[in-house]
Amino acid sequence: MPRTQEYWSINQQSRLSGLSRLVLHQFRNYQELDLPLQSGPVVLTGPNGAGKTNILEAISFLSPGRGLRSIKLSQVANLKRFNQNPSGLPSWAIAATVETSFGSAQLGTGLDYTAAGSERRLVKINGEPAKSQASLTDWVSVIWVTPQMDRLFLESASTRRKFIDRLAYALDPTHAARVHRYEHHLRERAHLLREGRYDPLWVSTLERYLAEDGVAIVVARQQVVKSLREAQRQDKSYLFPQFHAEMKGEVETWAANQPALAVEDRYAEKLKTTRPHDGAGGASTGPHRSDFQVHHLAKQLPAELCSTGEQKMLLLAVTLAFTRIQESYRSCPTILLLDDVAAHLDDQHRLVLFQEICHPLVALSHEDSKGPLQVWMTGTDRSSFHDLNGQAQFLTVHNATVMNSP
Ligand SMILES: Nc1ncnc2c1ncn2[C@@H]1O[C@H](COP(=O)(O)OP(=O)(O)OP(=O)(O)O)[C@@H](O)[C@H]1O
Ligand SMILES: [Mg+2]
Repeated sequence: MPRTQEYWSINQQSRLSGLSRLVLHQFRNYQELDLPLQSGPVVLTGPNGAGKTNILEAISFLSPGRGLRSIKLSQVANLKRFNQNPSGLPSWAIAATVETSFGSAQLGTGLDYTAAGSERRLVKINGEPAKSQASLTDWVSVIWVTPQMDRLFLESASTRRKFIDRLAYALDPTHAARVHRYEHHLRERAHLLREGRYDPLWVSTLERYLAEDGVAIVVARQQVVKSLREAQRQDKSYLFPQFHAEMKGEVETWAANQPALAVEDRYAEKLKTTRPHDGAGGASTGPHRSDFQVHHLAKQLPAELCSTGEQKMLLLAVTLAFTRIQESYRSCPTILLLDDVAAHLDDQHRLVLFQEICHPLVALSHEDSKGPLQVWMTGTDRSSFHDLNGQAQFLTVHNATVMNSP
């Protein structure tokens, strides 16, 4: 959290935590939107194509990266608008007021261009350009569950690695840069090995980098998994299915029995011996081969063998356990975006979800709370959310128009 007093207007009396205002400018199907928000969960309902997910996507840009659809920045600009721009260049912007226990802050982000004309994301905090997108995480943490993630446990291990890396990144903002660097060095090594003629000293140096970053990646992911287990153990009122989560991989197995430095040496050594084999592409060992595995404890089944609804509950259980970790140690709010959340959940499980997201809010309004949770949900059918009547702000979305719907 930035320490400079003028960076926020102190409002200690405020009970609201999370976003109190959201403004969209030329974002997807919205030309302009200015949304005042109350405290507590927010429910967006409306027909298909109305613009519900687009609002969640806009909020997801209050975290570093390419948003919940993981998209090229220019693609979210309102199509009709930029076609009319004399420059022909797409542009969009989002502004939000975030309420924290320290007071409120103004966050802004949007599409900008370098002098050379390439796309970049501009981030402003209280009107001042931020050094990097990572500065957003000082003020708010945004996590999401989308329908595309319903198949998380059925998809390839790389999809699950991305999921766990995103969580690790929320805990440690240096994690993303480390993963990026690791992948870059992995590609460089593979390229040299494929060519066949390389400087062994340079390949050894790359392997040393891979070992250092690789072990740090393994440790960061294991920290997430450990925290997930801890969050489950501590929360007695947990209504979600209990799960067992673990990272599986060769380096993880070594790390269970050896100190990190010894694992680095072992990994570097292994990379050296597998050079002839790795020439075909990639590397046979490393955190780029690891998998995030989840078991449904009551069913005694791996997640991929559970039913669609059970898998969704497991995914929500993992995500909610993670938000608890965030709440316990971060002083800024966590925003949880649950797109089309009612799909695959029966009445009973929906109720469990609503109880879980409402009760922590009550508990966390106490003074000792750190970073409370604001949950945003979307659905086509308002009746799916009737258990939240009186406890959530209901908004109806229709053709990019948003109305309060008490
Ligand atoms: N860059 C863009 N410019 C203009 N409109 C866009 C752009 N990108 C997407 N849209 C439109 O935004 C509309 C709303 O999309 P959104 O995904 O938010 O709908 P939704 O309300 O979540 O619908 P569903 O219930 O089907 O999930 C869609 O009709 C889509 O075609
Ligand atoms: Mg949608």
